[in-house]
Amino acid sequence: MAKTDSRRGKFITFEGPEGGGKTTQAKRLIQRLETAGHEVIYTREPGGTPTGEAIRNILQHDTTGEEISSAAEVLLFAASRAQLVAHVILPALDRGAWVVCDRFADSTTAYQGYGRGFDPEQMLAINGFAIDGATPDLTFLLDLDLDEGFRRLAIRHQEKASPLDRIEQEARSFHERVRQGYLDLARRYSDRFRVIDSMREEDTVHQDIWECVTRECGL
Ligand SMILES: Nc1ncnc2c1ncn2[C@@H]1O[C@H](COP(=O)(O)OP(=O)(O)OP(=O)(O)O)[C@@H](O)[C@H]1O
Ligand SMILES: [Mg+2]
Repeated sequence: MAKTDSRRGKFITFEGPEGGGKTTQAKRLIQRLETAGHEVIYTREPGGTPTGEAIRNILQHDTTGEEISSAAEVLLFAASRAQLVAHVILPALDRGAWVVCDRFADSTTAYQGYGRGFDPEQMLAINGFAIDGATPDLTFLLDLDLDEGFRRLAIRHQEKASPLDRIEQEARSFHERVRQGYLDLARRYSDRFRVIDSMREEDTVHQDIWECVTRECGL
């Protein structure tokens, strides 16, 4: 696990390709932690503050009608993240709350670095500036086959009658690079990354995550 320094709370992030169950599993973990009596803050990336939600809207739905340059995209993500760290994450950890984040800095390295082709080292440096020492204690990489991820997303979109967002519409090769990028990051930062086989049933995945949290966070 990563060092927690003087932080009293635990910081857990969920990462991985589209449709891997990040939101589903983050919510299940939170429910379990709350039942155990912990204060838990849930945030999503990009977003989680009013400024961050405005940025999310620009990134996901092209509200301006203007094409967003790839460099601008990186910096918009970083700006949203810096705001989230300063206003939500660090204050919560300092007072002893748990923070569960649905995507965080590793998403930028995976999507804009490995996916879009920026230098991953440059993405790591930008992240370092934005997160100001707020490294997660544990990062769950929900890994699954791309076809299965897209099958699940298709069902979700059908149920909600919602269109695919800008990133979901990217080519298959883009998503394959993202997946491999995440696996690279998990090898490089193996102290905090835990790769979870997300092809399995939702309950099994949850149980795996819960056992890991209880073991590694001293519950
Ligand atoms: N283990 C599972 N097996 C089958 N279906 C699942 C499983 N986990 C989640 N799902 C379903 O797959 C869909 C995608 O799950 P979810 O929204 O949690 O993924 P996500 O990783 O947050 O996706 P996104 O990358 O779009 O945010 C949902 O409809 C969810 O109910
Ligand atoms: Mg999600």
